[in-house]
Amino acid sequence: MEKKRASESQVSLHRMVLPEDTNVLNGLYGGKLMEWIDNVASIIAAKHARKQCVTGSVDSMFFLSPINLGDIVHLDGRITYVTRETMEVEISVFSEDTLSGQLRFTTSAHLTYVAIDENRKPTPVPGLIVETDEEKARWKEGEERSRNRKKLLEQVRERKKKMTF
Ligand SMILES: CC(C)(COP(=O)(O)OP(=O)(O)OC[C@H]1O[C@@H](n2cnc3c(N)ncnc32)[C@H](O)[C@@H]1OP(=O)(O)O)[C@@H](O)C(=O)NCCC(=O)NCCS
Repeated sequence: MEKKRASESQVSLHRMVLPEDTNVLNGLYGGKLMEWIDNVASIIAAKHARKQCVTGSVDSMFFLSPINLGDIVHLDGRITYVTRETMEVEISVFSEDTLSGQLRFTTSAHLTYVAIDENRKPTPVPGLIVETDEEKARWKEGEERSRNRKKLLEQVRERKKKMTF
């Protein structure tokens, strides 16, 4: 399978925070932002793999500043790392005050997608062409996160084996 560039699947999405997206404090509801993040990231994974992909995991996410009703939310994402059957997608989220144009970094997230075949079994994805220093740094960090993720996955699977219903 031919390797692909991250730029081929890169996606940026802008959303305006509407009343139905807010929490009781009139800020963007965290779960809504997570939905938007997963939505953009899954598009990126699907564009890279050109196969059906499912969300496997979402790494820890810190919300650094609130996003207000009427703000413009920027979600910028790209593939950072791939294994045989998985793709790590990084999403950076910024909020833009509609009136002043002030931009604030809100959160970043790393999500892992697994490509699946018609039997819903994991299937290989194209490799990633890593050329620039920035891409190389992202790849290296992704590799380390992938190692940690695999350990966590094993722990969760062990816990699952011990469960009785
Ligand atoms: C994700 C899923 C397809 C994996 O199937 P599986 O047969 O257990 O996968 P395998 O053990 O063969 O692992 C295949 C690869 O995926 C990785 N992987 C498997 N499950 C993963 C998970 N939950 N998160 C991250 N990576 C995962 C493995 O580490 C392996 O990576 P590699 O390419 O580096 O070797 C399966 O667990 C599934 O369908 N889960 C539900 C997904 C879903 O419905 N998501 C929507 C949210 S509810």
